[in-house]
Amino acid sequence: AAIEKGGYAHFMLKEIFEQPTAVFDCLRGRLDPKTGSIRMGGIDKHLDLLRDAKRIILVGCGTSWHAGLLAEYVFEELCRIPVEVEYASEFRYRNPVINPGDVIIAISQSGETADTLVALENARKQGAFIFGVVNVVGSSIARLAHAGAYTHAGPEIGVASTKAFTAQLTVLYLIAIKLGYSKNAISQERYLHLINELALIPEKITEVLRSANQVKLLAERYKDARDFLFLGRGYNFPIALEGALKLKEISYIHAEGYPAAEMKHGPIALVEEGLPIVFVATKDGYHEKLVSNAQEIKARKGSVLAVISEQDSVFEEIADATIAVPAADEILAPLLSVVPLQLLAYYTGLAKGLDVDKPRNLAKSVTVE
Ligand code: G6P
Repeated sequence: AAIEKGGYAHFMLKEIFEQPTAVFDCLRGRLDPKTGSIRMGGIDKHLDLLRDAKRIILVGCGTSWHAGLLAEYVFEELCRIPVEVEYASEFRYRNPVINPGDVIIAISQSGETADTLVALENARKQGAFIFGVVNVVGSSIARLAHAGAYTHAGPEIGVASTKAFTAQLTVLYLIAIKLGYSKNAISQERYLHLINELALIPEKITEVLRSANQVKLLAERYKDARDFLFLGRGYNFPIALEGALKLKEISYIHAEGYPAAEMKHGPIALVEEGLPIVFVATKDGYHEKLVSNAQEIKARKGSVLAVISEQDSVFEEIADATIAVPAADEILAPLLSVVPLQLLAYYTGLAKGLDVDKPRNLAKSVTVE
């Protein structure tokens, strides 16, 4: 088992560190910054159908659902196609309206999650076109889909999903950038800019991983907290949810993710001295608003931990601790900002002496209802 873990203490840590490779492998053969092209078999074959989709419905569970939530923001921004995101377990039972021209994008690491599989079977019977974003080749969901794109993240053993998530996001970005450009929803300039930025992500993740020790110290400092809040806005809102989910799964600390502006409609009541609140606050159009949210927390004596862009002196001043990630286009920043949150969950679980690769009560793949 030590050999399988390639020198890492746990699969989870190994898989977090494999993310530069996972994202690179996912881009390989698809993205070519030199020619400014994105080639994906499953998309190219059905380009007209996908480009003319009246609506996209993203379906998944757990971390895969979070990838869908981020994809909603990305597809609407880049493709101007209306998007809905559904928990597979709800979608399969609630008699959803599916119209001709709707495209369902199914997101699943394992390709075997029972709720997702049945939701897709139902939708397929109603005539929906199913596109799979799946990691495990030949899995049930991959076989059920009319078309798809594999995430190529390699086997993921740790129960909590890490590299499969960043690979899912990478595939979804590729699809959105490609469709957006072929629909003329984005300019050639923006298209080429996004392609170049995406190609830089693997090395930027490598840079983020250099802060692992710093995150470890943070985890040790806050490991006895009873609750955590994670706040973000826009593209970083789904990342706040994912950060909270990871921490819950691995450290058993109660954690909630929230859109930062919703804080005043509830979670702010929980803020008191010592409550750690993680801001996912890379520089984007919401930055000033997050700064004022963080000031509200400080006024109530909460502890502000923040994932920020490099050289953000404003946040450094307010926060009790910061982890910096390299600058990136704001739409792609989640591929960087999620990494310190995965590390935070890992090191918190580790500091508490828990079984991070196999947290209690959870399964890698939920093949029963
Ligand atoms: C389980 C796993 C999660 C995963 C979810 C969906 O809950 O523990 O890590 O995100 O299932 O799994 P899938 O294989 O469909 O992505």
